[in-house]
Amino acid sequence: MKNRANPVYCSIDTTDLEGAARMIQSIGGAPKPAVGGVKLGLEFFLAHGAPGIRYAFPQPVRATGVGFFLDLKLHDIPNTVAGGIRAVAELAPTYITIHSSGGRDMLRAAVQEAGAQAAKLNLPRAKLLGVTVLTSLDKSDLEATGVNSEPTDQVLRLGALARDAGLDGCICSPHEIAALRKECGPDFVLMVPGIRPVGSATNDQKRAMTPRQAVDLGATHLVVGRPIYTAANPRDAAEAIAREAGVNDL
Ligand code: C5P
Repeated sequence: MKNRANPVYCSIDTTDLEGAARMIQSIGGAPKPAVGGVKLGLEFFLAHGAPGIRYAFPQPVRATGVGFFLDLKLHDIPNTVAGGIRAVAELAPTYITIHSSGGRDMLRAAVQEAGAQAAKLNLPRAKLLGVTVLTSLDKSDLEATGVNSEPTDQVLRLGALARDAGLDGCICSPHEIAALRKECGPDFVLMVPGIRPVGSATNDQKRAMTPRQAVDLGATHLVVGRPIYTAANPRDAAEAIAREAGVNDL
């Protein structure tokens, strides 16, 4: 199989500041990261804010080239979302999430602000990823919010909206990769959770796929949490998952 950039983003789902710092150092630190990036989300950010991110993910670790996915799932009026993007820009996230259902103007405002901040701070522009339909929602949940579509149709609609507004990609379940890839073209980032290495526990992921299956369908990035951070040796676990996904120069 052809070698590829490490697609594995390890999700650090915790409020434990020291634990997160140790984990990020272990899987993302020198001499070479075992992951493509790390994901910190609402739980960590609400507990520790920007100072917590700077502490747990310090510059020497960032300097290895490991990516930073700030999973805040922003959703508000355009002006407020743009303010949120502005507020986190100096943390230099590689990826930020926003809800595609926030609408075209909100998405465009976010894209514009990310560009403006990159220019102002002389940093690479944060890539924006749209959240489509949360996998915790089924058809009846959508109906209760006035959306009378199959969840997959709604995912494709929101994916196309995100693409047309200038977002760089979407978050999606493994089962939506192929349809979104077809709808949104070859360059669209598809960041995919619900991944389990061959032979591992599925935990509460009911319809998980293996790293290889997801990459073969067109995923560009894989979000993996517990199989890495609960492993006896997280670095080894991360490397094994990356190898399963086709990375062979670890
Ligand atoms: O531990 P695990 O690999 O299941 O973690 C997956 C990560 O992806 C978690 O941060 C979880 O919140 C997130 N996620 C998910 N399924 C979705 C959307 C996000 O597991 N449908």
